[in-house]
Amino acid sequence: MKKSFVFLICSVFALGTSGYAQTKKTGKGAKPASSVLSPADVAKGKALITKSDCFACHKPTEKLVGPAYSDVAKKYPATQANVTMLAKKVIKGGSGVWGEIPMAPHPSVTQADAEKIVKYILSTK
Ligand code: HEC
Repeated sequence: MKKSFVFLICSVFALGTSGYAQTKKTGKGAKPASSVLSPADVAKGKALITKSDCFACHKPTEKLVGPAYSDVAKKYPATQANVTMLAKKVIKGGSGVWGEIPMAPHPSVTQADAEKIVKYILSTK
């Protein structure tokens, strides 16, 4: 009696966690890629980034003065919160995340443009 009770608890637990893992996985896979990194914004971001001075310090896949964009993309999941946060850093500058060298601020870039640029960066994983 006792044994079957333990078995019951275990199977309920296993079912519960596998169901949970599945919803978590689909939720994670579907949302960021399609809704946050919209192809239109990514394309605009790519155009904006080539017009700015970003490539003086960043390369798509190799570390230069700043981290490679592909490394930034690997570090931050493509969520709206990360897009907003990184866009603010592009405008205000930042330091201490990737090393001692600080990133210069870009006060002439608007938050909306910076977010498109960040979406492009996060799409380069
Ligand atoms: C003067 C060199 C320089 C220029 C120009 C520059 N960056 Fe950076 N960038 C850096 C450095 C250095 C870091 C790492 C800062 C740190 O460790 O927090 C960085 C970090 C970043 C990060 C990651 C921030 C974080 O907190 O993880 C992003 C995103 C980024 N840069 C985007 C851009 C964009 C977009 C532009 C152009 C508008 C740009 N950078 C221009 C040097 C530069």
